Amino acid sequence: MKKRLVVLISGSGSNLQALIDACNAQALNAEIVAVFSNKADAYGLIRAQQAGIPALALSPAEFPSRDDFDAALQMQINEYQPDLIILAGYMRILTPAFVRHYHGRMLNIHPSLLPKYPGLHTHRKALENGDAEHGTSVHFVTEELDGGPVILQARIAVLPDDTEDTLTARIQQEEHRIYPQVVNWFVQGRLVLKEEGVYLDGKLHYHNTI
Ligand code: GAR
Repeated sequence: MKKRLVVLISGSGSNLQALIDACNAQALNAEIVAVFSNKADAYGLIRAQQAGIPALALSPAEFPSRDDFDAALQMQINEYQPDLIILAGYMRILTPAFVRHYHGRMLNIHPSLLPKYPGLHTHRKALENGDAEHGTSVHFVTEELDGGPVILQARIAVLPDDTEDTLTARIQQEEHRIYPQVVNWFVQGRLVLKEEGVYLDGKLHYHNTI
């Protein structure tokens, strides 16, 4: 049985596209069963439709509170009986109840070498601080914002003429490579979150960089 993936987005959805492509190429033995966005105009919703995947938008403005929004989102997601929730540029803070509900089965990708630069504007921060290297991290989601255990990172060198845009482009290339890789580990049952940390192939896993 193919594992069922639900992807949450807010924007362009290039990481979603990388996952769609990996499923189509059978590099990933899984099915994206639904895509949800908190923004109705997210281009990723069009990518999902073009791939024949149910694409749903939920507007936070239509809910009285963050708790109500996340409860409704959770209910709708669960109708698709997902094995894994994948945050792919989902730019909204999740409630603790939502995070707890998907404990051990929700991944995020964040454009920095965590624990460096949680939050927004990571490329700007790397440039302002004169960092020689920068990167992106895939991690399990826990209640701490961008703070869950890291599974895999990709590093790039920061070049003298880099801008936020050039960094975004190079980082995203790396993301499109490492996110499907980590999702594949999960769907193959090789990646498990336990109390002591992340296990890969039955061994406690200290995150790698590729
Ligand atoms: C990605 O670069 C991802 O790392 C970042 O948003 C971008 C979404 O791009 N996520 C975060 O900043 C989460 N804190 P995409 O919509 O083209 O996949």
